[in-house]
Amino acid sequence: MTAPLTVRDLHDVAAQRLPRMAYDYYASGAEDETTLAGNEAAWARVRLRPRCLVDVSARDLSTTVLGRPVAMPVLVAPTAFQRMAHPDGELATARAAAAQGTVMALSTLATSTLEDVADAYDAARGARGGRWFQLYVYRDRGVTRALVDRAEAAGYDALALTVDAPFLGRRLRDVRNGFALPAGLSVANLAGHGKGAVDRALGDSGLAAYVATMLDPSLTWRDVEWLRSITRLPVVVKGVVRGDDTRLAAAHGASGGVVSNHGGRQLDGAVATADALREVADAAGDALEVFVDGGVRRGSDVLKALALGARAVLVGRPVLWGLARDGEAGVASALGMLRSELDLAMALAGCATARDATPDLVA
Ligand SMILES: Cc1cc2nc3c(=O)[nH]c(=O)nc-3n(C[C@H](O)[C@H](O)[C@H](O)COP(=O)(O)O)c2cc1C
Repeated sequence: MTAPLTVRDLHDVAAQRLPRMAYDYYASGAEDETTLAGNEAAWARVRLRPRCLVDVSARDLSTTVLGRPVAMPVLVAPTAFQRMAHPDGELATARAAAAQGTVMALSTLATSTLEDVADAYDAARGARGGRWFQLYVYRDRGVTRALVDRAEAAGYDALALTVDAPFLGRRLRDVRNGFALPAGLSVANLAGHGKGAVDRALGDSGLAAYVATMLDPSLTWRDVEWLRSITRLPVVVKGVVRGDDTRLAAAHGASGGVVSNHGGRQLDGAVATADALREVADAAGDALEVFVDGGVRRGSDVLKALALGARAVLVGRPVLWGLARDGEAGVASALGMLRSELDLAMALAGCATARDATPDLVA
């Protein structure tokens, strides 16, 4: 194949290169994968209404997220187990995200410790911060607290509390493959608490079994307040697709919300994120910063998301495909593709700045 030009090209390389169990874990969605497919299809359905005869000789893609400047409105979504894609795993992703001037959200279920990832990111950026920590709440609240304290101490800027995963969605490819972490890899952040292993489970995905035994399915909005009471970090609620939940998030002290269905990996049949975004953005008003993820594969998808009310998008699989290709350079190329596509889409749509992507830009 000629050099990859698009995120979809990177996917095709990764699909050839990765071992079956790793590829299926990254690529799959829950059950019939209708929400997985629906995310990409929904972005494709949104149509832009380009403005003409606007001076677009210079474009500015930068914006701010939670008050911090970023070079572009494309952030790295938290995805678990990145060392299955490349030996450098999360460290490579961190370096590439920092070099591109954007936020990386690190998963609780990373295969490198949050401290090591913080160091890699900050060294590449030449400054401290610019990263989020994605939090899963363990049944053991002492363990959860320890994670939050460590994230704060390591200079993470925000906690992204994932709220769409009281249990793991039924991902049939993982069940069939008997998913378990390959030898030598662990949930590095939890290893010190004896919760680092994701082993084979009889007749199930090892990760589904891990989540069912370790994570707390009883979480409610009250726990958002609990989280706020134990940290000074802003809390971003990840996995909101409804206006009423958006208002509850604001009422319970969240600073942001990510419109997300977990990349189609949780409730199959859940609404596509592009279709949910406007309702959430309207409900959020100025009370919350709104982000969106799921199926963003093109710079024009990013532009559509901005026009529908998002401050920025997050990308999950595109980063993993780049990582699988060649580590840090591959992640840099995935992010670079989205950046240059967004730059061109903005120019062709008559937007000189990210702020020009107003609601009238979509049909
Ligand atoms: C392989 C994989 C692992 C993921 N792991 C996590 C995770 O640990 N925590 C989390 O909040 N979301 C996780 N997600 C969901 C992503 O943060 C994000 O919502 C999703 O990937 C966005 O969709 P996209 O992959 O189509 O860009 C994961 C997604 C994938 C594909």
